[in-house]
Amino acid sequence: MTKKYIAPSLLSANFLRLEDELKALEEAKADMLHLDIMDGHFVPNLTFGPFIVKQIRRATRLPLDVHLMIEDAEKWVDEYIYAGADFLCVHYEAVVHLDRVLRQIKQKGVKNCVSINPSTSPSQLEFVLELVDMVLVMSVNPGFGGQSFIEYSLKKVEWLNSFREKHGLDFLIEVDGGVNVDNIGRLSRAGADVFVAGSAIFNQNDYASVIKKFREQI
Ligand code: DX5
Ligand code: ZN
Repeated sequence: MTKKYIAPSLLSANFLRLEDELKALEEAKADMLHLDIMDGHFVPNLTFGPFIVKQIRRATRLPLDVHLMIEDAEKWVDEYIYAGADFLCVHYEAVVHLDRVLRQIKQKGVKNCVSINPSTSPSQLEFVLELVDMVLVMSVNPGFGGQSFIEYSLKKVEWLNSFREKHGLDFLIEVDGGVNVDNIGRLSRAGADVFVAGSAIFNQNDYASVIKKFREQI
Protein backbone atom coordinates (compact mmCIF):
# COMPACT_ATOMS: atom_id res chain seq x y z
CA MET A 1 0.00 0.00 0.00
CA THR A 2 1.27 3.48 -0.81
CA LYS A 3 1.90 5.89 2.03
CA LYS A 4 -0.95 8.19 3.03
CA TYR A 5 -0.37 11.47 4.83
CA ILE A 6 -2.54 13.37 7.31
CA ALA A 7 -1.83 17.11 7.19
CA PRO A 8 -3.66 19.16 9.84
CA SER A 9 -4.35 22.73 8.69
CA LEU A 10 -3.23 25.21 11.32
CA LEU A 11 -5.89 27.65 10.12
CA SER A 12 -8.20 26.15 12.76
CA ALA A 13 -5.53 25.94 15.50
CA ASN A 14 -5.38 28.20 18.55
CA PHE A 15 -2.61 30.63 17.62
CA LEU A 16 -2.32 31.92 21.17
CA ARG A 17 -1.17 28.44 22.19
CA LEU A 18 0.59 27.50 19.00
CA GLU A 19 3.56 25.71 20.55
CA ASP A 20 1.20 23.43 22.53
CA GLU A 21 -0.84 22.82 19.40
CA LEU A 22 2.29 21.78 17.48
CA LYS A 23 3.29 19.36 20.25
CA ALA A 24 -0.20 17.90 20.38
CA LEU A 25 -0.16 17.31 16.62
CA GLU A 26 3.25 15.64 16.80
CA GLU A 27 2.01 13.37 19.59
CA ALA A 28 -1.15 12.65 17.60
CA LYS A 29 1.14 11.39 14.80
CA ALA A 30 0.29 13.93 12.14
CA ASP A 31 2.51 13.42 9.06
CA MET A 32 2.96 17.07 8.09
CA LEU A 33 1.56 20.50 8.86
CA HIS A 34 -0.49 22.45 6.34
CA LEU A 35 0.02 26.23 6.50
CA ASP A 36 -2.50 28.45 4.72
CA ILE A 37 -1.08 31.74 3.46
CA MET A 38 -3.80 34.21 2.40
CA ASP A 39 -3.27 37.72 1.06
CA GLY A 40 -6.74 39.30 1.07
CA HIS A 41 -6.59 39.54 -2.76
CA PHE A 42 -6.54 36.07 -4.26
CA VAL A 43 -8.85 34.97 -1.44
CA PRO A 44 -11.10 37.13 0.75
CA ASN A 45 -9.15 36.50 3.95
CA LEU A 46 -5.75 37.26 5.47
CA THR A 47 -3.57 34.97 7.56
CA PHE A 48 0.17 35.14 8.10
CA GLY A 49 3.42 35.34 6.15
CA PRO A 50 7.00 34.01 6.09
CA PHE A 51 7.83 35.40 9.53
CA ILE A 52 5.35 33.05 11.21
CA VAL A 53 6.32 30.14 8.93
CA LYS A 54 9.91 30.57 10.10
CA GLN A 55 8.84 30.49 13.77
CA ILE A 56 6.81 27.33 13.16
CA ARG A 57 9.80 25.77 11.38
CA ARG A 58 11.88 26.27 14.51
CA ALA A 59 9.21 24.82 16.78
CA THR A 60 8.52 21.47 15.08
CA ARG A 61 10.21 18.68 13.20
CA LEU A 62 7.13 17.91 11.11
CA PRO A 63 7.42 18.73 7.39
CA LEU A 64 5.73 22.00 6.40
CA ASP A 65 3.26 22.01 3.53
CA VAL A 66 2.85 25.68 2.62
CA HIS A 67 -0.26 26.55 0.60
CA LEU A 68 0.07 29.97 -1.03
CA MET A 69 -3.33 31.54 -1.70
CA ILE A 70 -1.72 34.75 -2.89
CA GLU A 71 -1.35 36.81 -6.02
CA ASP A 72 2.13 37.25 -7.50
CA ALA A 73 3.26 33.99 -5.90
CA GLU A 74 6.36 34.09 -8.15
CA LYS A 75 7.70 37.01 -6.13
CA TRP A 76 7.26 35.24 -2.82
CA VAL A 77 8.42 31.65 -3.34
CA ASP A 78 12.04 32.32 -2.32
CA GLU A 79 10.87 33.88 0.96
CA TYR A 80 8.82 30.81 1.84
CA ILE A 81 11.61 28.46 0.86
CA TYR A 82 13.97 30.41 3.09
CA ALA A 83 11.35 30.30 5.86
CA GLY A 84 11.45 26.49 5.76
CA ALA A 85 8.74 25.12 3.46
CA ASP A 86 9.16 21.43 2.54
CA PHE A 87 6.28 21.48 0.06
CA LEU A 88 5.43 24.79 -1.59
CA CYS A 89 2.12 25.08 -3.34
CA VAL A 90 1.07 27.80 -5.80
CA HIS A 91 -2.37 28.24 -7.32
CA TYR A 92 -2.78 27.59 -11.03
CA GLU A 93 -5.20 30.56 -11.08
CA ALA A 94 -2.77 32.95 -9.37
CA VAL A 95 0.43 32.63 -11.38
CA VAL A 96 1.12 33.68 -14.94
CA HIS A 97 4.18 31.51 -15.60
CA LEU A 98 3.31 28.26 -13.86
CA ASP A 99 6.03 26.19 -15.56
CA ARG A 100 8.68 28.69 -14.51
CA VAL A 101 7.62 28.92 -10.89
CA LEU A 102 7.36 25.13 -10.53
CA ARG A 103 10.92 24.77 -11.85
CA GLN A 104 12.10 27.62 -9.61
CA ILE A 105 10.80 25.80 -6.51
CA LYS A 106 12.28 22.44 -7.56
CA GLN A 107 15.68 23.96 -8.30
CA LYS A 108 15.86 25.14 -4.70
CA GLY A 109 15.45 21.54 -3.51
CA VAL A 110 11.88 22.02 -2.28
CA LYS A 111 8.93 19.88 -3.40
CA ASN A 112 6.67 21.84 -5.71
CA CYS A 113 2.91 21.68 -5.73
CA VAL A 114 0.17 23.21 -7.87
CA SER A 115 -3.30 23.83 -6.50
CA ILE A 116 -6.55 24.10 -8.44
CA ASN A 117 -9.75 25.82 -7.36
CA PRO A 118 -13.01 23.85 -7.49
CA SER A 119 -13.98 25.32 -10.86
CA THR A 120 -10.63 24.50 -12.53
CA SER A 121 -10.30 21.23 -14.43
CA PRO A 122 -7.25 19.11 -13.63
CA SER A 123 -6.81 18.64 -17.38
CA GLN A 124 -5.44 22.22 -17.46
CA LEU A 125 -2.34 20.75 -15.80
CA GLU A 126 -1.79 17.99 -18.34
CA PHE A 127 1.58 19.20 -19.66
CA VAL A 128 3.16 20.28 -16.37
CA LEU A 129 2.27 17.14 -14.42
CA GLU A 130 5.60 15.54 -15.35
CA LEU A 131 7.46 18.19 -13.34
CA VAL A 132 5.10 18.35 -10.39
CA ASP A 133 5.67 16.73 -6.98
CA MET A 134 2.13 17.26 -5.74
CA VAL A 135 -1.26 18.46 -6.99
CA LEU A 136 -3.60 20.05 -4.47
CA VAL A 137 -7.27 19.66 -5.30
CA MET A 138 -9.24 22.33 -3.46
CA SER A 139 -12.48 20.70 -2.36
CA VAL A 140 -13.93 24.00 -1.10
CA ASN A 141 -13.54 27.52 -2.45
CA PRO A 142 -10.32 28.68 -0.78
CA GLY A 143 -10.32 31.31 1.94
CA PHE A 144 -11.93 29.79 5.01
CA GLY A 145 -11.95 26.71 7.18
CA GLY A 146 -15.10 24.86 8.14
CA GLN A 147 -16.84 24.77 4.73
CA SER A 148 -18.65 21.77 3.21
CA PHE A 149 -16.85 19.37 0.90
CA ILE A 150 -17.71 19.81 -2.80
CA GLU A 151 -18.61 16.32 -4.03
CA TYR A 152 -17.34 16.66 -7.61
CA SER A 153 -13.81 17.02 -6.21
CA LEU A 154 -13.77 13.21 -6.08
CA LYS A 155 -13.97 13.06 -9.87
CA LYS A 156 -10.96 15.37 -10.11
CA VAL A 157 -8.97 13.10 -7.81
CA GLU A 158 -9.98 10.11 -9.97
CA TRP A 159 -8.90 11.93 -13.14
CA LEU A 160 -5.49 12.76 -11.66
CA ASN A 161 -5.03 9.24 -10.36
CA SER A 162 -5.74 7.64 -13.72
CA PHE A 163 -3.51 10.17 -15.54
CA ARG A 164 -0.74 9.36 -13.08
CA GLU A 165 -1.11 5.62 -13.66
CA LYS A 166 -1.39 5.93 -17.42
CA HIS A 167 1.77 8.03 -17.72
CA GLY A 168 3.82 6.32 -15.01
CA LEU A 169 4.12 9.51 -12.93
CA ASP A 170 4.54 9.70 -9.18
CA PHE A 171 3.17 13.07 -8.06
CA LEU A 172 1.12 13.06 -4.85
CA ILE A 173 -2.57 13.99 -4.86
CA GLU A 174 -3.64 16.20 -1.98
CA VAL A 175 -7.19 17.23 -1.02
CA ASP A 176 -8.00 20.29 1.03
CA GLY A 177 -11.35 21.52 2.30
CA GLY A 178 -14.20 19.83 4.13
CA VAL A 179 -12.22 16.60 4.59
CA ASN A 180 -13.72 14.55 7.42
CA VAL A 181 -14.16 11.01 8.67
CA ASP A 182 -17.16 10.48 6.34
CA ASN A 183 -15.43 11.33 3.05
CA ILE A 184 -11.76 10.51 3.68
CA GLY A 185 -12.19 6.81 2.79
CA ARG A 186 -13.78 7.63 -0.56
CA LEU A 187 -11.05 10.18 -1.29
CA SER A 188 -8.38 7.63 -0.49
CA ARG A 189 -9.94 4.99 -2.74
CA ALA A 190 -10.18 7.59 -5.53
CA GLY A 191 -6.39 7.97 -5.30
CA ALA A 192 -5.73 10.82 -2.86
CA ASP A 193 -2.50 10.54 -0.84
CA VAL A 194 -2.44 13.67 1.34
CA PHE A 195 -5.45 14.72 3.41
CA VAL A 196 -5.63 18.25 4.78
CA ALA A 197 -8.07 18.73 7.62
CA GLY A 198 -8.63 21.80 9.76
CA SER A 199 -11.97 21.93 11.51
CA ALA A 200 -12.43 18.14 11.57
CA ILE A 201 -9.31 17.89 13.77
CA PHE A 202 -9.32 21.10 15.80
CA ASN A 203 -13.04 20.97 16.63
CA GLN A 204 -12.28 17.89 18.74
CA ASN A 205 -10.29 17.88 21.96
CA ASP A 206 -8.49 14.64 21.21
CA TYR A 207 -6.52 15.14 17.98
CA ALA A 208 -4.97 11.67 18.22
CA SER A 209 -8.33 9.95 18.15
CA VAL A 210 -9.49 11.90 15.05
CA ILE A 211 -6.24 11.11 13.23
CA LYS A 212 -6.58 7.46 14.24
CA LYS A 213 -10.14 7.39 12.86
CA PHE A 214 -8.87 8.95 9.62
CA ARG A 215 -6.22 6.26 9.31
CA GLU A 216 -8.77 3.50 9.82
CA GLN A 217 -10.68 4.84 6.80
CA ILE A 218 -7.80 5.33 4.37
C1 DX5 B 1 -9.08 26.82 2.95
C2 DX5 B 1 -7.76 26.23 3.34
C3 DX5 B 1 -7.85 24.96 4.07
C4 DX5 B 1 -8.67 24.99 5.33
C5 DX5 B 1 -9.35 23.66 5.44
O1 DX5 B 1 -8.89 27.82 2.03
O2 DX5 B 1 -6.94 26.02 2.20
O3 DX5 B 1 -6.55 24.42 4.31
O4 DX5 B 1 -7.94 25.23 6.49
O5 DX5 B 1 -10.20 23.70 6.54
P1 DX5 B 1 -11.34 22.62 6.73
O6 DX5 B 1 -10.69 21.29 6.88
O7 DX5 B 1 -12.01 23.09 7.99
O8 DX5 B 1 -12.24 22.69 5.53
ZN1 ZN C 1 -5.03 24.92 2.49
